[in-house]
Parts: sequence; C-alpha cells; structure tokens
Amino acid sequence: MMNTLHLTDTQQDIQTAAAILREGGLVAMPTETVYGLAANALDGDAVRRIFKAKGRPMDNPLIVHVAEVSDIDRLHLVSDFPAAAQRLADAFWPGPLTIILPKGDVIPNEVSAGLDTVAIRIPSHPVAHRLMAVSGLALAAPSANTSGKPSPTTAQHVIHDMDGKIEAILDGGNCSVGVESTVITLAADVPRILRPGLITREDIESVIGPVEVDKAVLSQLERNETASSPGMKYKHYAPRAKVILLRGGTEQYITYVNRCARRGAMIAAMCYDEDRERLTAPTVSLGRRSDEKDQAQRLFAALREVDMLPVETVVYAPCPKAQGVGMALYNRLIRAAAFEVIDLPMKRIVGLTGQTGAGKTEVAGMLRTLGATVISADAAAREVVTEPEVRAQLCAAFGDILSPDGSLDRAALARIAFSDASKLRRLNAITHPRIIRRMLDAASNAAGEIAVFDAPQLFEAEADAYCDTIVCVLADRERRIARLTARDGLSRDLIELRMSAQYDEAFFRSLCDAVIENNGTAADLKEQVAALYERLVADEQSG
Ligand code: TXA
Ligand code: MG
Repeated sequence: MMNTLHLTDTQQDIQTAAAILREGGLVAMPTETVYGLAANALDGDAVRRIFKAKGRPMDNPLIVHVAEVSDIDRLHLVSDFPAAAQRLADAFWPGPLTIILPKGDVIPNEVSAGLDTVAIRIPSHPVAHRLMAVSGLALAAPSANTSGKPSPTTAQHVIHDMDGKIEAILDGGNCSVGVESTVITLAADVPRILRPGLITREDIESVIGPVEVDKAVLSQLERNETASSPGMKYKHYAPRAKVILLRGGTEQYITYVNRCARRGAMIAAMCYDEDRERLTAPTVSLGRRSDEKDQAQRLFAALREVDMLPVETVVYAPCPKAQGVGMALYNRLIRAAAFEVIDLPMKRIVGLTGQTGAGKTEVAGMLRTLGATVISADAAAREVVTEPEVRAQLCAAFGDILSPDGSLDRAALARIAFSDASKLRRLNAITHPRIIRRMLDAASNAAGEIAVFDAPQLFEAEADAYCDTIVCVLADRERRIARLTARDGLSRDLIELRMSAQYDEAFFRSLCDAVIENNGTAADLKEQVAALYERLVADEQSG
C-alpha cells in the first residue's frame, strides 16, 4: 500500500501533483468527462504503472492529453495532422473529443499498445489544464477506475478504486459531462466514431461531413472480429448485479417493473426521476427523462449505486434511443447489461389466468366472441417445441426424448419434468421465454384492439410483467372438481393432486386486477365477461 496524497485545486497542490508526474508518478486528475489516471505520456515506465494500478490489459491503448493544440506539434506527438483534425480541433477543443491520428516516434509502445496510431485529447477542465500547463507534460490518462468498473465521476469514486495504489488524487469536484469523450479515428479511409460521447455524430458531421459509427459501438462483436478500439472488446461498466434493459414505452416499463415487484421478485429499477414515485421497486435514478445530458452526467454514479445492491438483484433499466447523446448512454448501458434487452409489447395485453377447472377456457371463448384476439399459451408451447433449436436444447438437458419420427415425445418429456422440481425449472427456463416471445409477436400482429394472453401459468412463466391488466377466473373447489371430473374423466385423487400443485385462490386475488367468480349460471358468467370486456375497451380508449 502506498500513501496516496489527497490534493485539491490550490496552486500549491497542483504544483505538488506536477512534480509527482515529472518524477514518473501517477496522479488522478479531474476532467470534464470523467477522472483520468495520469502519467507522463512520454515515459514508458510511468505509463506501465497505470496499467498495473487499474488492472488494465496491456493491449488497450491510452489517450494522450495536452493543454494546447500547439503542444501536439511541439512534442511531436503525431506524424500527420490532417485538415479534418484541425477543423475538429477548432470546433470542439478544449472539450470531450478524442482524435486518433498516426503516431509520432516519441510515443512509447505502452501508450499506443503497439498500434501505429495515437489518441489525442485537449480536456476543458480547468484543473486538468493547469496541471498540464504547470508540468509542461503530455499526460497519458485512461479513466481512473479499476478496469471493468464504471468510470469515476467524483473524487470519492477514484478514492474507492485507487487509494493506496497511486501517488495522488486531485479533487476537482463532480465531472460535468459524466461519460467519456467521443473517440473518432481519422486514421481510417472514412472518419469513424469508435466511442460515442457528449459530442454527437451529428455535431461532428456538421463540421467534417459524413462519418461512420463503428459496429462495436452498438452491437456485440463476434468472437472472431477484432475491435478497432481495443477498449470495446472488454467487459465494461459491469455491476455485480444483473442489469437488463427494457425497450419500449414508459407505461410498459413501469408495468413490467411493478408486476415483478408485486410477485416478490428481487429487483430494482434504474429509472428517470419522473417515474420514481410510480415504481414500487427500489430505484436508482438516471436523471430527468427528457434531459440526456443530465442522464450522461449521472450514469456512472448510478451504476456504482447499483453495485451496492445485493448481487442477486436484477436491475431493470429503460433502453435509451441510440441517437444523439442517447448513443453514448446506449453504448454504456448495453454493456452494463451484457447486451441483454427485453422488448416490451406495443399493444395493451390482458392476462387471463386462474385455477384449473375454474372456467378460464369458457371465458377466453367469450372474450373472443366479443372481439378480443385470444393468444393461447398452450398452443404457443406446442409450437415452441417444434423449433429445432429448442428440441436440441431439450435433448441436451433431458436425454433422448424424440419419437421415432424425430418429433418431440411430449409425454416422455412431461414424465421426466414432472418427476423432479429442478428438471421442471430447467424445462421452463428453456421454453418459457420463447413461449412468451411467440405470444408477444402474435399480440403485435393481432388486428383487434385487445390481445388476451390465455395462460394458466401466467405467473410461473413471469409473463404477468407484460400485462396491463390481469384477470383471473376462480370457482369454488367442489365446482372445479365436478367440472374436471366431467371434462377429463379423472379420478378425484388425481384431480386433487393437480390442484395442490397450483397457486391458491388468495395468490390469484392478491396479484390480479379483476376476478371473475364462476360459481353461478352460464348467463351470469356471460354477464361478468361482457362487463369486463366493456371496461377493457374503455381502458384501451382512455390510455
Ligand atoms: O473522456 C475520456 O476520454 C477519459 C478522460 C480521462 O480523458 N479517458 C478515457 O480513457 O476514457 P480510456 O483509456 O478509459 O478510454 C480510451 C479509449 C479506449 O477504448 C481505447 O481502446 C481507445 O480509447 N483508444 C485509445 N487509443 C486508441 C487508438 N490508437 N486506436 C483506437 N482506439 C484507441
Ligand atoms: Mg475507461
């Protein structure tokens, strides 16, 4: 452990920091984007210590920061400074833009990680500027976080990650931009954005014309693809808890989160300030909905806050639109979520569920007659097991369960799965998400205004989260037994066994928005369903 000096922005402290840098030491410094971990860029040994302190792979190159454009030439940092670079410099420097150019001979291999280019940036933060001006140095500085953690946007974040590992931390307050600089390469045929930031593609195009956005910015690289920007290939901004992005409307997002919370799932929500009060799960704020700059400024602190949650927590976050500043938010959040995104439905969905024998099928039929599109989970389940990929996964999990004609032997699968709770969970983990996907697709293709998910296992499959309204059909126990005896010709023992495997009435009553009590006549049931449908149509029209 090293004794890390905690410095402020006084002239005295900045001189101390400059002296440390000149002697080959490491200083964490504030910039307008995030805190950087700085060393003399032309001292390979000093730069190597940055990698060690961060635990950063040596093949990930660093950005070289200077105080003035004239320093680039004075220190021979690049071998070419094209006209486009000059135009970008005039428009955006000092500021959150990094330009990749052919490197000068003075750049140590540690900085460029063996590439023939170097990344250059002139930060606008006054403390960074003074540190470079006083030291007279070009500073190699990656973000001052432990590799893989969210970049630090406060001195406290840096202390958390770097105390005891570096010579000094300069406290310059909270970073105003909050996400790292936009990185653009001018060393390619067409200028290409390698990392999105506050300076948007549109901003850049207005200065130098068309630019490309590297594929790795928005999507996951395949195993065999090489990253133009080595940083893109590493797992980044990864909190310990699992993060999942929800893509869709605000109402659907709130419904999804609240349904999960209501059934007792261990979840939290990253959310916009405006939605905080309507969410019943613990929340971590991402900033104001309509203010992407505010969200960028708070993003990394929010991800660090997520890290305080128990590891088992699933954190749902709204999926930003990958445009403008939103591209930077999307790029960071999609990595925090390891590219896991759930598409929320575009249509209002009514979940229809209930206990076996209560009359759910009759109710579904009546709703269909009234004009609803009824989507059957049982039918979707039968379709899902015809998918070759699903069949392969099921065989891998449960052994050979194919009939001689190659189709799935459903009876054999049922015997295996229902013999053992852990096998049933495995079966459900393979099939339920695909069943839901099929049902959502069917809902979005449905002509009618109201799509009904007819799903006896709505809650077990966690499909409840997609439903605006959940209706259950309940009936007295003896009536259900009588119906099942008449319908399936099963013994009372077997019926009671099946019934004992299901949730009880209290469960359905606590989680559903409407209850149809099927204890009266057929006319009575019809009347209840007609009233329900009328309400659903009214809800649809009002919302
Ligand atoms: O806002 C920022 O840029 C912050 C502050 C401290 O300036 N710095 C920062 O550095 O984010 P770092 O090292 O965390 O991210 C630099 C990114 C990495 O993804 C790296 O792979 C890429 O820039 N990079 C650096 N040099 C490169 C080069 N020659 N070619 C391609 N990518 C390069
Ligand atoms: Mg970084």
